[in-house]
Amino acid sequence: MRASARPTAAEPTDLAPAAMRSSLVAVEPRAAADPGAIRIVRAPGRVNLIGEHTDYNLGLVLPAAIDLEIRIAFVPTDDRRVELVSGATGERARFDLDAIGRARGAWIDYVAGTAWALAEAGVATRGLRGIVVSSLPTASGLSSSAAMELASAWALADVPGGGISPLALARVCQRAENGYVGVNCGLMDQFASACGVAGAAVFLDCRSLDFGPVALPLATHTLVVIHTGSTRSLTTSQYNVRRAQCEAAAAALGAEDPGIRSLRDVTPVMLPRMRELVDDAAYRRCRHVVTENGRVRETIEALAAGDLPAVGRLWAASHASLRDDFEVVSPELDALVEIATAVPGVAAARMTGAGFGGCTINLVARDAVGRLRAAVAAGYPARTGLVPRVYAVDAAAGAGVVRG
Ligand code: GLA
Repeated sequence: MRASARPTAAEPTDLAPAAMRSSLVAVEPRAAADPGAIRIVRAPGRVNLIGEHTDYNLGLVLPAAIDLEIRIAFVPTDDRRVELVSGATGERARFDLDAIGRARGAWIDYVAGTAWALAEAGVATRGLRGIVVSSLPTASGLSSSAAMELASAWALADVPGGGISPLALARVCQRAENGYVGVNCGLMDQFASACGVAGAAVFLDCRSLDFGPVALPLATHTLVVIHTGSTRSLTTSQYNVRRAQCEAAAAALGAEDPGIRSLRDVTPVMLPRMRELVDDAAYRRCRHVVTENGRVRETIEALAAGDLPAVGRLWAASHASLRDDFEVVSPELDALVEIATAVPGVAAARMTGAGFGGCTINLVARDAVGRLRAAVAAGYPARTGLVPRVYAVDAAAGAGVVRG
């Protein structure tokens, strides 16, 4: 979610079902009349292990849903009105399912946009009164927007998950973001939030839409997300510029070779020709995407073989390519990766998400997490003047109903 739309993160205990029911009753006393009618849904954030800025080029991605998430406790209604309270700020926002209106630049846009996209997809929706609680930091590059959309979809749909597949629901939520909120994102974030698998990463081929779990070495290692503490002010505009550069590069090669419809169709042997057709910046964007798709495949192979040094090299190459060719790595992200890479037991480190600030992802031996925290605390604030936040995360299941 954009910083301006920000509710702050709650304590994990606030997300427990009993606590959420009490919070709902506090803001919506009528919910107490029929506790059995209260529903709770959840949707996780995501971290991307590798395959950055490849999704909208119809390439390959390897995200994992994480155990930082958004939950909505609500009672369904039959009056076609949606009214939600932010558990973090107490702010109450509402809209009418039959007169959704335009985006307002506020957190409710993600809910309203999802309602709009569900209707466009022919999925029946219902009114509700509810409360939103989140343990997922916003505007951090951990896909709080996608989580808000998926949680909303599960709350708004008349039948669980809209009666469509999680992947189809992810596409509806991507449509909400593209067509209503106005961010031209790819499918990765909504896919991860919808289709995550507990204890595993999930591979997606963004062209064929084939996907499946990829095992992680979680007996010995854990995923650690480190937030730079810097805001991502240019993300939306710069993101859309990068996307346009990629599409222009694909179109230039496509004019000569009709087989090329996106950068997914460009192979490494075509890169020299690309260099003659487009300017240097567009060429480097293209080279990043083409080589990054290869690194996703190689990372999956290296994980399957238990070859963590190879994973480390691939993530380092991805980070360098995002810095030098795609130019989305801030000095703060670079500092965090440099510090982490020097810590014994950190198998792999790179920036994750759109870039321009946000977070790094680290694959860390379980007994080295303390060392990593200490190294970041000792080295990062002095270099940047910023306060980092370190989260050891588990790979979580995709969005759905919370029982209990
Ligand atoms: C953001 C977008 C995704 C993807 C990543 C970069 O998270 O929402 O669709 O493009 O950036 O990999």
